[in-house]
Amino acid sequence: MVHGGECIQGTVRVDSAKNAVLPILAAAILTEEKVLIRDCPRLRDVDAMAGMLKMLGCECAWQQDGSLSIESSALHNWEMPDDISKEIRSSIFLLGPILGRLRRATVSYPGGCEIGIRPIDLHLKGLRALGVRITDDEGILYCDGRNMHPGDVYLDYPSVGATENVMMAAVLLDGVTYIHNAAREPEIEDLQQFMNLMGGRVRGAGTQLIEIQGVKKLHGAAFTPMPDRIAAGTLLCAAAITGGEITLQNVRTWDMIPISAKLAEMGCRLYDEEDTMHLIAPRRLSTFSEMQTQPHPGFPTDMQAQMMAVSCLARGTSVIVENVFESRFGHVSDLNRMGARIRVNGRMAVVQGVERLVGKRVCARDLRGGAALVLAGLAAEGETIVENVHLIDRGYAALENTLKKLGARIERAALK
Ligand code: UD1
Repeated sequence: MVHGGECIQGTVRVDSAKNAVLPILAAAILTEEKVLIRDCPRLRDVDAMAGMLKMLGCECAWQQDGSLSIESSALHNWEMPDDISKEIRSSIFLLGPILGRLRRATVSYPGGCEIGIRPIDLHLKGLRALGVRITDDEGILYCDGRNMHPGDVYLDYPSVGATENVMMAAVLLDGVTYIHNAAREPEIEDLQQFMNLMGGRVRGAGTQLIEIQGVKKLHGAAFTPMPDRIAAGTLLCAAAITGGEITLQNVRTWDMIPISAKLAEMGCRLYDEEDTMHLIAPRRLSTFSEMQTQPHPGFPTDMQAQMMAVSCLARGTSVIVENVFESRFGHVSDLNRMGARIRVNGRMAVVQGVERLVGKRVCARDLRGGAALVLAGLAAEGETIVENVHLIDRGYAALENTLKKLGARIERAALK
């Protein structure tokens, strides 16, 4: 329940990135030794991944200081349980590392956010190029990696997950693997850094060509994942939409440029220094001319919904094109119910700025769309009730507490 109208103001530290942590947890099973993930965010998706690792036979335990330890010497199970695979899409990341360690794996087609078809053909094509034989029996994939070998993998599209999966599958193969047309997201660089800390020999992450020199064995490591650029962007949007002022600590300002550039275009003033970022919102935002989601370093699709919420209250008309996922406008109908004027035509949304939004009972349909509805609620008149907040918990650790610290009137309530 959000009571709108309060300015978001204050200082907050950004957590580690969900999208870095999930593949890193999967990569942790590539070694039999203990791995420690420091500053690991307490998110539903992270808990689900930890649960999955336990089912595979690993020991996985939260430490008092917020680290998560993983020990995989007893990894024995190559079958990923159907229900969890369906719950989180990141279960697909385990395919590469399980194959790397056990040379066989069974997984069902994964689930995840309801934002498109989200096929896994690129993951499978990449693994096949490394000699994995895959058979599909009514949605269950049996992967035989006994004849795995290094190779040249060409991705038809720079998929984040497929790039990470192939990196993890190749790191223990004898020889050199190249990934061509690799995704360039900063989280992939984080995975490279983590794998190299374990003794891997990977280079090129952050560019279109990644080289993985196979090694015989990986060893234990302690690693702090990168800060969450999407959580940071969401908080910047919270300040922007409420005419507030925010200081974020623990941000990699360089990674934030696609987002901060758009907010600057809307009239926000942004300053950064080392790992701190400061935003001052104008009294009324202006629109950006056009925002097109693209693979990195383009504008991130994971910020599209939140930026759309902000643009609802800007002066003028904004055009938003969603190029990455085919149906990622689930938040539009609820924003319109709150008084926004958004028209969708295929992958394009045209947002005509309005002067006010009004609180309504709305429903999160996916993680980032849910966050967008909370943002709209912060700026709306009266009370907004966002249902289905468990979807928001997938990627934000107690978002209501963070926002409350920054001056929002927001509560988590059990609704009838
Ligand atoms: C990751 C992020 C997600 C983000 C997305 C795009 C994690 C845990 N999740 O998801 O938050 O929204 O990157 O930045 O890191 N595709 C195929 N075939 C495949 C794989 C993908 O067609 O085998 C398509 C997808 O349907 C989608 C596009 O490629 O349209 C991008 O997907 P991808 O980059 O793979 O995203 P994810 O790794 O799933």
